[in-house]
Amino acid sequence: MSALTYKILHLLGVLLAFTALGGATLRALAGTGEDAAGRKLAGITHGVALLLILISGFGMLAKLGYDFPFPLWVWLKIVIWLLIGASVAVIRRLPAQATTFWFALPVLGATAAYLAIYKPF
Ligand code: HEM
Repeated sequence: MSALTYKILHLLGVLLAFTALGGATLRALAGTGEDAAGRKLAGITHGVALLLILISGFGMLAKLGYDFPFPLWVWLKIVIWLLIGASVAVIRRLPAQATTFWFALPVLGATAAYLAIYKPF
């Protein structure tokens, strides 16, 4: 698979992750019950998205010739990936902070994009 194909899969993963996080955040804002429709869809979408982001991310690294030890921007993206991964559970536990997540999560995503585009470190 080419680096560009990996990138499209990477972006698909990012789009799916943020679709799921938007849904999870709205559920938290609405105070929707635990067993309401949508929770499973958002949870599965979020899980598949994270897997897609990670596999395509490492696929691109291999295609672009990066090897261990990776540069700092890659490690920072892995930290962001972990935060995005934990966020769906955190949103559920802290519904009072849902509006904060609504704005902070896209900023976190933009930071990951910035790190890949500029590779500052
Ligand atoms: C949720 C977390 C992440 C988000 C939102 C994200 C977002 C993005 C975006 C938008 C791009 C496209 C940049 C461009 O136009 O060139 C990109 C590229 C890339 N990402 Fe991620 N990413 C994430 C996690 C990761 C992880 C965990 C890895 C590594 C394991 C990774 C590795 C890469 C690589 C290697 C590129 C291509 C850089 C290049 O073309 O030179 N990303 N990412």
